[in-house]
Amino acid sequence: MQTQFDCLINSFLEHNVGLAEHFLQEPLAIQLKANLLALHHDQQLREAGIGNRTVHVQDKLLRSDKIYWLDRLHENVAENLFLDLMDNFVVYLNSTCYTGITGYEFHYALYEKGSFYKRHLDQFRSDNSRVFSMIMYLNADWQSQDSGELCIYHSDHTQTIAPLNGQCVFFKSNELEHEVLETHAVRMSITGWLKVGS
Ligand code: OGA
Ligand code: MN
Repeated sequence: MQTQFDCLINSFLEHNVGLAEHFLQEPLAIQLKANLLALHHDQQLREAGIGNRTVHVQDKLLRSDKIYWLDRLHENVAENLFLDLMDNFVVYLNSTCYTGITGYEFHYALYEKGSFYKRHLDQFRSDNSRVFSMIMYLNADWQSQDSGELCIYHSDHTQTIAPLNGQCVFFKSNELEHEVLETHAVRMSITGWLKVGS
């Protein structure tokens, strides 16, 4: 576990984007994906909104994924294992990098074929509590022709990341604009934010 945490943090410190290929262990990724597909089947996923307001017609031009927030109250084994992992990561990050993270929020995300999320920043203008963005992918057998890459816009280059199973991406929420290219296959992930303040 610590090796994956170090891998993520060290690549973040070096390149402003942390990448760890096997951040989620395969059995956990499989269980979380099964949860997400079951939620989708039961029509529990909701169209995602932009910012901290309710879904608006304009939002659909910006993003077309569907989401479901994780919560310990669901008493779901895999979800709780995932949140335990995040608790451990926050303790490790705070103790090694003095980041002062006090909370987090995570949701499942499902992009159906043809879905996308246009270029954006993860921090709201009205709320700067989101400090770090974290995305973990749940796509076994992802093919390059499936597209659906995450593009991160650095000042001098664009970084393209395929949504490979178990991989984690980690970056500052208020610094790096990014976008999800239109996907040609169902694209699944857990996305969240490490936060400060209440
Ligand atoms: C987001 C986001 C990127 C991805 O949900 O804010 O940018 O690769 N997701 O899913
Ligand atoms: Mn984003």
